[in-house]
Amino acid sequence: MVKAVTKAVFPVAGLGTRFLPATKVLPKEMLPVVDKPLIQYAVEEALDAGINEMIMITSLNQSSGKNLIESHFQTAEELEATLLQRGKTAELNFLRDDFPNPQKISFTHQDEPLGLGHAVWCAKDLVGDEPFAVLLPDDLMQAKPGCLKQMMDVYNNTGGNIVAIEEVAEELTGRYGILDVDEDDGRLARARGLVEKPAAGEAPSRLAIIGRYILQPEVFHHLDKKMTGAGGEIQLTDALAAMLGGIPFHGLRIDGRRFDCGSKRGFVEANSAFAAERSDL
Ligand code: G1P
Repeated sequence: MVKAVTKAVFPVAGLGTRFLPATKVLPKEMLPVVDKPLIQYAVEEALDAGINEMIMITSLNQSSGKNLIESHFQTAEELEATLLQRGKTAELNFLRDDFPNPQKISFTHQDEPLGLGHAVWCAKDLVGDEPFAVLLPDDLMQAKPGCLKQMMDVYNNTGGNIVAIEEVAEELTGRYGILDVDEDDGRLARARGLVEKPAAGEAPSRLAIIGRYILQPEVFHHLDKKMTGAGGEIQLTDALAAMLGGIPFHGLRIDGRRFDCGSKRGFVEANSAFAAERSDL
């Protein structure tokens, strides 16, 4: 029996410079796709996978607007009272459904932008000695069941570390963590190696990690070492590579679509794809 995953970590400390001026005061995770902020899609995906404790890693920079993420997940008592008074039940439900219990969301800070591995390491005390999920809200998933739920179903058999993967074009390997696999049934691939952002032509495969992880707490032992890798940053991929051999590591192709909302093109595509799914639009 694998140990249940009850906590999810959301690294939300990035500056979002690619979306300036929209992100001048608004954190990029609050940018809406149709009518819902990116961070809320990620939180809903975690809830849908049975997770009920959310841990957000924000930046310390006061001008980054990250406190808006905190406000977004607090109960809006005045607004709710007004909607109730005006009989706007549907709108009220938008504020109540799909939100986790505000007491189940904690916020911690990453004091310096030292990389994704460092951001995840900042959650160490809040996660404790348990397996946990990591969701990068920039990677927006359109999948039913949700991406993390699909991973969780596989994790219950395999245990170990699991990431969501997608095949990318050879010239794009330099943007991702890439798997070196020794077994692959077309859906689930078992990895024997892992490289962060290998140059085109030097990658062991085209199977890229796409922003969803289920990880064992031992990852913190490796992140504790604060070793820097690609781009001079503390990379999560390197810590996962160091765990290979000890515990199983799998990549799962998701039944669904993924949008890279860290890029303008992906963000615009996500807006049309999510709008197309809606009967009211
Ligand atoms: C991060 C990870 C990378 C992963 C990617 C998915 O990179 O370091 O391994 O493939 O997210 O979006 P970043 O996009 O933060 O540069």
